[in-house]
Amino acid sequence: MIKPDAVENGYIGAILEKINSAGFKIIAMKYTKLSTEKAMEFYKIHKEKPFFGELVSFMSRGPIVVAILQKENAVEDFRKLIGSTNPELAEKGTIRQLYATSIGENAIHGSDSDENATMEGNFHFQNHEILP
Ligand code: RTP
Ligand code: MG
Repeated sequence: MIKPDAVENGYIGAILEKINSAGFKIIAMKYTKLSTEKAMEFYKIHKEKPFFGELVSFMSRGPIVVAILQKENAVEDFRKLIGSTNPELAEKGTIRQLYATSIGENAIHGSDSDENATMEGNFHFQNHEILP
């Protein structure tokens, strides 16, 4: 997901360019917006965290771009491409170092395991919206 801050700041094109250059194939993509309920469900693993309320209101405050990406070793390579959760700690040239605002508003989400990538893909897309 390209998060609401990055969409507001006009970084959709720049971020997709980084994703393309890094060799990811886009097999599904849409421009959409999460309701409060959907944002709560997506990040339910963090529901006990002190930042949960802030995270949900941030993720539902404006449009996002969601995509399913395909590549060998995709999860690990994408986490490397996006950089640390906190942009101040993110390596130079990573998407978060370049385009994030803060630890909370950090421009982009990446799945953290193959299992979660499948779950999150099914959360956002129906089968017919995904390229075979
Ligand atoms: P994500 O799930 O969005 O790809 O981010 P992540 O794995 O790098 O970080 P995670 O620990 O899963 O946290 C999810 C999102 O919650 C917000 N957050 N805010 N204010 C804070 O201390 C704080 N910590 C995390 C960020 O938007 C983070 O990406
Ligand atoms: Mg995470």
